[in-house]
Amino acid sequence: MAKTKVLVTGGAGYIGSHAVLALQQSGYEVVILDNLVYGHQDLVDRVLQTELVVGDTNDRALLDGLFQKHDFAAVMHFSAYAYVGESVQAPDKYYRNNVVGTLTLLEAMRDAGIKQFVFSSTCATYGNPEKIPLTEDRPQNPINPYGATKLMVERILKDFDVAYGLRSVCFRYFNAAGADPEGRLGEDHNPETHLIPLVLMAAMGKRESVSIFGLDYPTPDGTCIRDYIHVTDLATAHVLGLEYLLKGGESDVFNLGNGNGFSVKQVIDTARRVTGKEIPVVESDRRPGDPPVLVGSSAKAIDILGWQPQYADLEQILTHAWQWHQFRHGN
Ligand SMILES: NC(=O)c1ccc[n+]([C@@H]2O[C@H](COP(=O)([O-])OP(=O)(O)OC[C@H]3O[C@@H](n4cnc5c(N)ncnc54)[C@H](O)[C@@H]3O)[C@@H](O)[C@H]2O)c1
Repeated sequence: MAKTKVLVTGGAGYIGSHAVLALQQSGYEVVILDNLVYGHQDLVDRVLQTELVVGDTNDRALLDGLFQKHDFAAVMHFSAYAYVGESVQAPDKYYRNNVVGTLTLLEAMRDAGIKQFVFSSTCATYGNPEKIPLTEDRPQNPINPYGATKLMVERILKDFDVAYGLRSVCFRYFNAAGADPEGRLGEDHNPETHLIPLVLMAAMGKRESVSIFGLDYPTPDGTCIRDYIHVTDLATAHVLGLEYLLKGGESDVFNLGNGNGFSVKQVIDTARRVTGKEIPVVESDRRPGDPPVLVGSSAKAIDILGWQPQYADLEQILTHAWQWHQFRHGN
């Protein structure tokens, strides 16, 4: 029997590549669409070994050709720009790529009759939370253009369901972290802005230090608390989200988080333990717009999708990330 085929946009990036691996392991055939602005062709060639179409979601003719050539059951959409600070400086770039690019993809899907869509949304759509842990029904008031682009796509998806019967699962992730437990894939952003890779680069001596922004937050150790979700657990959730849609499930939205928050100091201390290295720290003032605590509830994904996160332990997340960093960035 022919395998069910899925198009994965952004499949050469961090989370997308782990999702491709999980899809392949669950018996799906995957085609990747990635413009390689941030993606890594070497990981596709070496690990994923599947068709990579180097192109852009804004290219309607390319999408039409792709949908004519392949019989996709669904699209999983990871491609986007995701630097919050840059989105404030250059909102046009973000609205064009994340909103217009997604709309172009959805229109091409509608015209090709592809009715299932899994979307990478974000906890950044909530803005500053009033109540922790965040559940899916909390108000969405993004405080930067990046979060706004993702919220707009969530809205477009609701409207596309009503008008065209295109069903979707939106996953609002918290902070993706860690790496494939078998060391095949991991995080390699350039520029890097995420705490865990920055801490590990400092442990490797590739950065002088790590900055802690704010030590006077109303948290037990004064530093910000965030929710780190293992990328392999994210990938597993995407396969379950796809299967939910393929079985006829209605459009829905799910948080994907760890359930526990960890402070910046906890991350650094755990990284010192895992790596056995000194990690020099620079204490700085708070950054504007950083809420003290951001932790999500994933109870809905656990309940409805049957998701069972395997790697919620911070030490395990850091161990996998460290293994990957040494392989990818070691001398
Ligand atoms: N990393 C996180 O913690 C996190 C948290 C919440 C949501 N997200 C969302 O998850 C998704 C994946 O994030 P990531 O960390 O893997 O990022 P990433 O940059 O590693 O992956 C995105 C990929 O999309 C590609 N891409 C970007 N624009 C494209 C376009 N127009 N056409 C084709 N390819 C394009 C890039 O080359 C890259 O390979 C993004 O949508 C991001 O907003 C990430």
